[in-house]
Amino acid sequence: MKALIIGASRGLGLGLVRQWLARGFDVVATRRGAAPGLEEAQRAHPQALRLEKVDIDHPAEVAALAGRLAGESFDLLFVNAGVSSPPEVPLAKVADAEITRVLFTNAINPVRAAEALSGLIAPSGTIGFMTSILGSITQCNGGYELYRVSKTALNMAAVCFAAHEANKARTILLLHPGWVRTDMGGPQAPLDVETSTKGLAATITRHHGKGGVAYLDYQGETLPW
Ligand SMILES: NC(=O)c1ccc[n+]([C@@H]2O[C@H](COP(=O)([O-])OP(=O)(O)OC[C@H]3O[C@@H](n4cnc5c(N)ncnc54)[C@H](OP(=O)(O)O)[C@@H]3O)[C@@H](O)[C@H]2O)c1
Repeated sequence: MKALIIGASRGLGLGLVRQWLARGFDVVATRRGAAPGLEEAQRAHPQALRLEKVDIDHPAEVAALAGRLAGESFDLLFVNAGVSSPPEVPLAKVADAEITRVLFTNAINPVRAAEALSGLIAPSGTIGFMTSILGSITQCNGGYELYRVSKTALNMAAVCFAAHEANKARTILLLHPGWVRTDMGGPQAPLDVETSTKGLAATITRHHGKGGVAYLDYQGETLPW
């Protein structure tokens, strides 16, 4: 089995790389700058882990990555890359440039990257996106307005993507990792990266090959859109 993980320099992306390596996968993992944890993992698994570079906000870089990987076939593509936004600022007060940055990085560019890389994914493979329960419309209790909007939009963009003819036999997963202690999640989060990513990998494994589109948390529970 072979996985391509986009946005694996640290946090949950790096945790997912470790999970797939532990399960015997060959992994291609991307970062966009320095990534000491990922480089250390590569030194520990020189055969199984290959590193690439891509910033999903630069379409030419995504196209170049697709070109470098041409001819390879992956069972799993997972787009983990994402950014946060200030929790207390209501949407009406956020600067246009910040709205553009968060919407493109969290909602539009993950799906554009999946589209650009989809030719590398097996016809019945799995394509996963890291979303959040904060994108669930029915669960909204305020705060993180821009971030919530971006993850709701990611969910819709991925459901539209799942309806494309090329994805008919694929499994498309929108996964919420829980609230996790990373640079984004902060030190007060209840979950560690290993617990979350172990659950995410088990959930992906359970759904692989089943087809369809699902919005799930790291424990495999279905979430309300
Ligand atoms: N932590 C949580 O509690 C939590 C909860 C729900 C959802 N999530 C989601 O989980 C994902 C990972 O979060 P995390 O907590 O691990 O955050 P993190 O520690 O801040 O890591 C974010 C990752 O995304 C990468 N990234 C950001 N923008 C990118 C871009 N334009 N192109 C390529 N890579 C990019 C970062 O790369 P650099 O190192 O280059 O910046 C880094 O590898 C995100 O999508 C986040 O929204 C997290």
